[in-house]
Amino acid sequence: MFARPLARAARAGRTSARRFASSSTSVAGSRLATRLTLAAAGAAVIAGTTYAFLPQAHADASRITKAGERIITLEELGKHWQAGSLWVAVDGKVYDVSEFANVHPGGLRILLENGGRDATKLFHAIHPPNTIKKYTKQVPCVGVIDPEELAVLASQRSAEDDRIETARRSLFGVDSVVGLSDFERYAKDLLPLHAWAYYSTGADTEGALAENTAIFRRIFFRPRIMRDVHDVDTSTEFLGVKSSIPVYVAPTARNGLGQPEGEVAVTRGAGATGIFQVLSHYASRSLDEVKAAAREGQQIGWQLYLNPDRERSREAIEDAVAAGAHSIWITADTVTLGKRETERRLNAEANPAPNGKPLSRERQRFGFSAHDTRMSWDDIAFVRKHAPGLPVIVKGVGAWEDVVLAYKYGADAVVLSNHGGRQLDFAQPPMKVLYDVNKNAPQVLHRKNFNIFLDGGVRTGTDVLKALCLGATAVGLGRPFIYAATGWGSDGVEKAVQLLEEEITIGMQLLGVTRVDQLGPQYLDTSKI
Ligand code: HEM
Ligand SMILES: Cc1cc2nc3c(=O)[nH]c(=O)nc-3n(C[C@H](O)[C@H](O)[C@H](O)COP(=O)(O)O)c2cc1C
Repeated sequence: MFARPLARAARAGRTSARRFASSSTSVAGSRLATRLTLAAAGAAVIAGTTYAFLPQAHADASRITKAGERIITLEELGKHWQAGSLWVAVDGKVYDVSEFANVHPGGLRILLENGGRDATKLFHAIHPPNTIKKYTKQVPCVGVIDPEELAVLASQRSAEDDRIETARRSLFGVDSVVGLSDFERYAKDLLPLHAWAYYSTGADTEGALAENTAIFRRIFFRPRIMRDVHDVDTSTEFLGVKSSIPVYVAPTARNGLGQPEGEVAVTRGAGATGIFQVLSHYASRSLDEVKAAAREGQQIGWQLYLNPDRERSREAIEDAVAAGAHSIWITADTVTLGKRETERRLNAEANPAPNGKPLSRERQRFGFSAHDTRMSWDDIAFVRKHAPGLPVIVKGVGAWEDVVLAYKYGADAVVLSNHGGRQLDFAQPPMKVLYDVNKNAPQVLHRKNFNIFLDGGVRTGTDVLKALCLGATAVGLGRPFIYAATGWGSDGVEKAVQLLEEEITIGMQLLGVTRVDQLGPQYLDTSKI
């Protein structure tokens, strides 16, 4: 499984482990010793990084390169894994993130999990290029990894790498996909466990996650017959954007965990099929990269997480405007992150705790959060001020009363959403919220200056039609596009849209309508909702 020229390294691992075990009784020392002992025995997979047969650590840790950078051994790096003395290696450089960890937008926990290690692969899957450059002052570079050890790290393969390669080799062409659920099935085999954990899971008991899809099964059609449905037009227009079907790509973070192009693959697929994409604030690719991959005239919305420091938010909004964002989608259901229990369990499996012990309290603690616990309706005006002329959408509305408030506060649209079941467990499914809007606030439906979008659990063309019958302008899909791109990049995204278009067309014909604006509540039986 591992590259061959490492027998010497195996011996070195044993030597280092012995030396460490006898010379150090510190926690850090015993943790490293454990790692090296495991390495000597064969391999240890820690935090997605395989430690196996590392070459002998250089005794002289203060060697410097020709460029004057200090050479740091993996052994030395491994000592800096705790809050207060926390280093990570990215692209062969070692960064001291001890201070930055307390304000890292991704939180303290992930840095502690990856502290004292090479985190290159995961880092690039999460952050757009230039991230480190932007933070040079806060994240000092303390040296470079010993080149010999770096070469060994680069050559290592894990059991997971093998599993994914085998799955990819046996993957059929994209035309073998006949429904969106196929993408999910394939993606599970193609993704590293930590990525599957991040994408697929929901909050707490996953009640909201399950109910998002389940509710569609309790809504039935009342099809009408003996009508001419020969020519069907599935297209629509919203926020000044034409769309081939009433579907858009909901913003999802970290698309780069599953395939190297990340969100750019989605952009290409969306461009080829004529649908709109909203890019996440925490996308793996920057808005500049996404815009560069977009077709002429292809519009991209940008999603914003409000930062407790509004200056940071102002900068982020202005950057997005400068990069050509079509609209700003404020996510309002994320004042704090939901407790994603299944994700934590799967991550513990993917990323065993050192010494087999559970994570310490410190490692479980989140610390600083880039999410703002002090949002208010006035933030709509704040965003508008810094994105003049752009549509402002409030995403994450979970009760009909807040739809009315968003309208009053001048939002151009809302997204009924519970964040794909990842935030408040048992937050009612967006389809129920839409149903409540019909009952309690029909005056905000079908307005020229106010759109209602919905996302969560939409998996088929008939789901889309049900939402439109209740007055949604268009619906967003999150996970299906991630999974489609995981298997086949932009071709997967194209295929997903084609499947939805086919299903919407068939559904409209069988329902007795030829244009999406003909859809209405008269086509539904919601008595079992
Ligand atoms: C080395 C210096 C690092 C810097 C300067 C840095 C910077 C950032 C920034 C600016 C964000 C916000 C995302 C954005 O604005 O695009 C972020 C988010 C994040 N970072 Fe880092 N980061 C660093 C290291 C790491 C490492 C080593 C990891 C883990 C391997 C990590 C994991 C994350 C995660 C999980 C998020 C949150 C993304 C989300 O919520 O989806 N970061 N980081
Ligand atoms: C992996 C993942 C990451 C997400 N990241 C974001 C995000 O960065 N910003 C945001 O507003 N919503 C985010 N969401 C929520 C989606 O925008 C959307 O509400 C949800 O995925 C819809 O549910 P679905 O996945 O069942 O289609 C994310 C959802 C998932 C599954």
